[in-house]
Amino acid sequence: MISAPGPTISASAAPTAWNRKHLLGLEDLSRDEILGILDTAESFAEVSTRSRKKVPVLQGRIVFNLFFESSTRTRTSFSLAAKRLSADTQDFTASASSLTKGESFIDTAKNIEAMGADVMVVRHPTPGTPHLLAKHVRSSIINAGDGAHEHPTQALLDLMTIRRAKGRIEGLTVGMVGDISHSRVARSNLWGLTKLGARVILCGPPTLVPKSMERLGCEVAYHLDDVLPQCDVVNVLRIQFERQERALFPSVSEYSQLYGMTHERIRKAKDDLLVLAPGPINRGVELTPEVADGPHSAILDQVTNGLAVRMAVLYLLSGKMEPKGGGEA
Ligand code: CP
Repeated sequence: MISAPGPTISASAAPTAWNRKHLLGLEDLSRDEILGILDTAESFAEVSTRSRKKVPVLQGRIVFNLFFESSTRTRTSFSLAAKRLSADTQDFTASASSLTKGESFIDTAKNIEAMGADVMVVRHPTPGTPHLLAKHVRSSIINAGDGAHEHPTQALLDLMTIRRAKGRIEGLTVGMVGDISHSRVARSNLWGLTKLGARVILCGPPTLVPKSMERLGCEVAYHLDDVLPQCDVVNVLRIQFERQERALFPSVSEYSQLYGMTHERIRKAKDDLLVLAPGPINRGVELTPEVADGPHSAILDQVTNGLAVRMAVLYLLSGKMEPKGGGEA
């Protein structure tokens, strides 16, 4: 049991099967491990409601944010999560580092490790970068988004938001709409949702939703108006123009007409449809402002839940961090 002001965060909140040093993706996590993170995140959500929002579970630990791509939510949320657990945090800015003088990525990481980093939170445009790093340093590695591959903490906060709103995940129909091909959020959500028993439908233009993804245990559809009435949840994904090498649909306005989440479309959906979007959102492209800010939207709840999820992940990984002085676990 780890003492904290007020109620305690119990080590028994962690699933007994939790024995991992890194969080690289949801593909290799079991159903029980995912549920264990979600349950632990619920404990940490309570911490954020206290007047003193800090617990000493990572005191003396150092968490480095290594972001090689822009971020608003993930970077700040990890930073705040680490601070709430009483860790020291440090942001690393690639463009202002000696990478620009030719130092290699691995040498850079080894230097950060030499400063005592217990955790490196890594976002990189190249898929597999966090996995590579995990082979070269002793620090725990958390994947904060690697190219179009995975974004595990985004999927976990999406799962937490769905479970809080609907009371369950098993048996729900979840539509993911938009640029599936280039989306790490789609991949991580697909692993998480199917492991927890949801029916997943991927929907978008054929050039952005490969039929081959059906092999991963989901359905693929191209007509949102057919899919939407079946959905309990719809996760609206951004068009990742920065990852597209050529135009994959005729125009943004045509895309919005066929796949944009509008007030008129939502009127044909279930009354309690939950609308998620990982952000950043492009108002008027993937969804209209009235949907983004409307009663079905849980977009800002996702951000709030992200903090609890990231606290939970840091806490669970701390069980496998190398011991430091001062008698800490
Ligand atoms: N959803 C998400 O990853 O947002 P950021 O790119 O702002 O971190």
